[in-house]
Amino acid sequence: MTSIGIHDLEVATAHHVLDLGLLAESKGIDPAKYRVGLGQDEMSMPAPDEDIVTMGASAAWEILRRHGTDGIRTLLFATESGLDQSKAAGVWVHELLGLPSQVRVVEVKQACYSATAAIQAAMGIVSRFPEERVLIIASDVARYELDSPGEPTQGAGAVAMLIGADPAILEIEPPSGIHTADVDDFWRPNDSSTAVVDGALSVRAYLDAMTGSWDDLAGRGGPAIGDIDRVVYHQPFTKMARKAQQRLDRHAGGSLGTLGLDSGSVYNRRLGNTYTASLYSSLASLLDHEEEDLTGKRLGLFSYGSGCVSELITGIVRPGYADADRSARVRAALDTRVPLDVPSYRSLHALEHSSVNDLETSHVTRAPFRFSGVRGRARQYERTDGAARLP
Ligand code: COA
Repeated sequence: MTSIGIHDLEVATAHHVLDLGLLAESKGIDPAKYRVGLGQDEMSMPAPDEDIVTMGASAAWEILRRHGTDGIRTLLFATESGLDQSKAAGVWVHELLGLPSQVRVVEVKQACYSATAAIQAAMGIVSRFPEERVLIIASDVARYELDSPGEPTQGAGAVAMLIGADPAILEIEPPSGIHTADVDDFWRPNDSSTAVVDGALSVRAYLDAMTGSWDDLAGRGGPAIGDIDRVVYHQPFTKMARKAQQRLDRHAGGSLGTLGLDSGSVYNRRLGNTYTASLYSSLASLLDHEEEDLTGKRLGLFSYGSGCVSELITGIVRPGYADADRSARVRAALDTRVPLDVPSYRSLHALEHSSVNDLETSHVTRAPFRFSGVRGRARQYERTDGAARLP
């Protein structure tokens, strides 16, 4: 059987950053609550001319720069920050990247889980047509109400992945563990730009979904816990991964302890929650920061989307997976974000573009693509000087 999995992945983020120490001080909260209690140091925030399309296109652009577009006939865009009720955000990305018209584009949604559904769909396509590759983009802006408990767990970022046969990074194994249950832990009604959340319930639902996924994986002939070397998790805040690994060890009789938790959360601590991109940012973080050579090691990937659907997949790390250039690029993207003070953060948070009137945004982002405004109720995007022509 053909081996299929993640051939490449790339992380992109937004123009601004807010230090959570500043946010804590502004509220008279001990900064250790955020840094230690939640495990978050910073959160990314988009400039007014950035959104899920510009971040997603930036991440995908790097992938296409390295691999070209040959064999790509599908682009799956995973997000829960949708910009339109009908049009898939990936169609704008398709245009910005100059992809051929023979590429189907779809948006997939189920809270933070949907990039994993996209991977499963991509694996189905590649097993039928092994010469094809599928471009997946997970891109989100996590927004909660100002002064709510969720506020310090906001963030913004995108991960682009190329799924194909004989993958260079991670071969995904066939069995996976699934758990779905109707839970009102977190959702965003159509008339709200911020999420509605019962935080405590969402933590419980996440942990229950993880044990449910484990049980399903075990029942379908998945590996024993002792044969899994590291697990990366969806990280709404990085402390959640610690809670999850503790629960997994207890439930499955494992001894993972804190293995992989620090290396798998370096990016997440600084990006904040990136919803659909969070698990795969954690995967990139682990690959880029784990000191032990991961070649041949089995990873677990736990994907959770409130509401809720979860899936635990496993994969074997391929020789030559390490990419020093990616880690340098992600670090540079994080280090060069423009810091916000709390008043500027609050006014940026309040900014919402309506589609009713035409609008031209001012040019702030340094990314290769920008949201230039609204014309005739339709969103407009453009390449900037930073976008070299693709091969
Ligand atoms: N120093 C160190 N740790 C501190 C602290 C301090 N001064 N003050 C509090 N803490 C710890 C708490 O003990 C707690 O740790 P624990 O979870 O290990 O017990 C942690 O910080 C969070 O404190 P808590 O009082 O529970 O925070 P909160 O009620 O303000 O909200 C969430 C926490 C996660 C519920 C909230 O951020 C939220 O709603 N987030 C969005 C939803 C979400 O991300 N859900 C996750 C599943 S998808």
